[in-house]
Amino acid sequence: MEFSYHNPTAIEFGEGKISAISNLIKKDQKVLFVYGFGSIKKNGAYDQVVKALENHTFFEFSGVEANPTVETMNKALEIVKKENINFILAVGGGSVIDGCKYLAAAAKYDGDAWDFLDGTAEVQDALPLGAVLTLAATGSESNNLTVVSRKSTNEKRLYFSNHSYPQFAILDASFMSTLSDQQLSNGLVDAFVHVSEQYLTKPNTTLVNDGYAETLYRGLVKLAKRWEDRRTYLWQENLMHICNQALNFQIGAGVVQDWSTHLIGHELTAFYGLDHGRSLTVVLPHLLREMIDEKGEKIAQMGENVFGIKDDNEAIIQKIEETFHSVGVATKLSDYEIDDKVIENVQNAFRSHGYLEIGENGTVTLEKVANILTRSISS
Ligand code: NZQ
Ligand code: ZN
Repeated sequence: MEFSYHNPTAIEFGEGKISAISNLIKKDQKVLFVYGFGSIKKNGAYDQVVKALENHTFFEFSGVEANPTVETMNKALEIVKKENINFILAVGGGSVIDGCKYLAAAAKYDGDAWDFLDGTAEVQDALPLGAVLTLAATGSESNNLTVVSRKSTNEKRLYFSNHSYPQFAILDASFMSTLSDQQLSNGLVDAFVHVSEQYLTKPNTTLVNDGYAETLYRGLVKLAKRWEDRRTYLWQENLMHICNQALNFQIGAGVVQDWSTHLIGHELTAFYGLDHGRSLTVVLPHLLREMIDEKGEKIAQMGENVFGIKDDNEAIIQKIEETFHSVGVATKLSDYEIDDKVIENVQNAFRSHGYLEIGENGTVTLEKVANILTRSISS
């Protein structure tokens, strides 16, 4: 076993925890309070942030879209520069938080910060960032990953940087009461796929990683089975907790990871606008079937320890599909409005991003990607 793991994000979990930000942000820090299109004005988060910042100097920037773009975040960058902002407070879901991770890094960079996304530069420094989470899904609130899009080129890219960890994350599930069923199910399936990308690879001997990943899976399956309880605080706070744990990369520390489903899903979002969670469920089951020779042993382990199914990998994959269907999420690309260029589009994007041999063994080639998408379209 060998790994390095340092997660510096302080987590404040529970109702009313937002008040902690008055002390978590120093009084002399000038804050840019960043959010989306107003959901935070309906669930109380906006008022609570304003109250918590009553003794701070702060500015607001709104309008960060789902799948945040550099075009939008560069407008926020102008305010950061003009007002000498030195703390960014992101209030929203993964998109606002990711947009702010980019913004915090861009503020300390002389060139065009898209360089971080296309890999031509690495983040060397960033403004301090705090997150108030209102949508449970990505885990972005306490990880070092940033996913940002560029509208002008239809690209959705990502980068990792240890400068991107928020200093703190407020996880108060009462802000989730305004989420739609679609958003709740998107979060559930996104976390399911996050666990899968770090677990459904090849057998390992790291008992903690496997055991904890299986616990997270069982929690998600239980929430799916109790879908009728989704409007309860208990259900929502458990989803928030599991989503957070599924992608703080602890279960990925020291084991090989896949991430092919995400890389394919990001292209489906870039070209066809699928919600992030939904872009994954049309890929994962088909990828598992396509890569069954390499993933078979872990699929079998997961099936036994999560679903109680022994020695029948196809039945396990079908159970995963049933879990997604049970929360109203489709598993076929043909359920969405795509065109006959989908395979070509994904392959071309992969070619230009250099994703020629991805997956835990570097065996998910462009041909495999085409096979996976073909399975999804024709299933
Ligand atoms: O704009 P407003 O009005 O705030 O509405 C937002 C927006 O429409 C709404 N929303 C947020 N909280 C709400 C709410 N509506 C009602 N009640 C609330 N409490 O939800 C929409 C925004 O959702 P978004 O932030 O896009 O969702 P999510 O958290 O799923 O984030 C998805 C983005 O994160 C990226 C995805 O690719 C996508 O761009 N990812 C980031 C990761 C990371 N940084 O670790 C990993 C993930 O795998 C993922 O790739
Ligand atoms: Zn995801």
